[in-house]
Amino acid sequence: MTPVQLLSERAQATRPFYVMELLARAAAREPLKGPSVSMVVGEPDFPPPPPVVRAAQAALAQGGIHYTHTLGMPELREAIANDYLRRDGLQISIDRVAVTAGASGGLLLVMAALLNPGDEVIMPDPSYPCNREFVSVMGGVVKTIPVDAASGFQPTVDAVRQAWGPRTRALLVASPANPTGTMIATDQAQSLAQTVRELGGVMIIDEIYQRLAFEGNPKSLLSLGDDVISINSFSKTFSMTGWRLGWVVAPTRMIAAIERLSQNLFISTSSLSQRAALAAFEPESLAVAEAYRQKFREQGRYLLTELQRLGFQLPAAPDGAFYGYCDVSALTRDSFQFCIDLCDQAGVLMTPGRDFGDYQAEKFLRVSYTKPLELLQEGVHRLKVFLEKTQ
Ligand SMILES: Cc1ncc(COP(=O)(O)O)c(C=O)c1O
Repeated sequence: MTPVQLLSERAQATRPFYVMELLARAAAREPLKGPSVSMVVGEPDFPPPPPVVRAAQAALAQGGIHYTHTLGMPELREAIANDYLRRDGLQISIDRVAVTAGASGGLLLVMAALLNPGDEVIMPDPSYPCNREFVSVMGGVVKTIPVDAASGFQPTVDAVRQAWGPRTRALLVASPANPTGTMIATDQAQSLAQTVRELGGVMIIDEIYQRLAFEGNPKSLLSLGDDVISINSFSKTFSMTGWRLGWVVAPTRMIAAIERLSQNLFISTSSLSQRAALAAFEPESLAVAEAYRQKFREQGRYLLTELQRLGFQLPAAPDGAFYGYCDVSALTRDSFQFCIDLCDQAGVLMTPGRDFGDYQAEKFLRVSYTKPLELLQEGVHRLKVFLEKTQ
């Protein structure tokens, strides 16, 4: 008798991140050679702002940690909407806001609300690897547009028009993006939104790093129109990755669909995290978040300058987040092998380009600079020694 196949084709087809192999190698190496310097981490190294922690402690002491409304506590949805008014001058009705389990939960729910099997979503290559899975787990089909430094690693209107087909429903972009940290200029975003509108689709913008832009305070691209869907999160802005809380702003019809889906799939997001997150919009928390943003910028400036001295190229400097997408083709023909050797021989961890797509992936790797300056300095020193030995 053939054994029962317990795993779906989808589950079997979902690939792990290549960086997991590096992490396993680093874990095996550390007992003998000491701690690694990680430049792979996609999360802040800071604690959440103190008011958030105090609010969580108070909520725990008070009790009543029950399910909340499936779209989130009304007070939190209102605080999110008010923050758009304060920060972006945008009037967002709370009927357009859904609190989700991180941006991840938001992306998943948006795809569930939007896609029939076979429907396509266009996204750039390289981009955040999980985006592929949010689409395909819903039976959707990913269509990638290869992008490079010439367009700031963001899709052009022409490329979107060319890729668009009868089954295409959406364009998904991020600004600033992961892995490049590059933003879409407002006029470019406007043209993209208009194009997608004309083609009868929706534009989904992942703005999880919007508040970590290095210069000025760029406004949310929700200003492009009420039909735009924006994904956001407490994870990166407020150093709250483990609290699993984010939000979606979408047209009310989609929020109603998200509500039905979310009721069934999740009931609600964490009540404790929501009560804590209410404090994230207090002035003290906003000041802490601002200080974190400055730190990422300083750390990035240091690391990316040093890496370029050592032969890494940065064809498009990041506008925000805490990443740099570096071209290492002057040092290697295979960025994945380079990452493995760097891990094994020097204990420095960087993410290979192939984790973000296929286009020119062997030329690129991503560095993240969430770790403190002293650690980044140690990493640069080790890299220098490694390159002296191997080049
Ligand atoms: C572009 C992008 N979107 C979404 C996410 C998921 O974030 P969250 O922790 O809010 O689920 C990440 C996490 O790294 C990301 O880089």
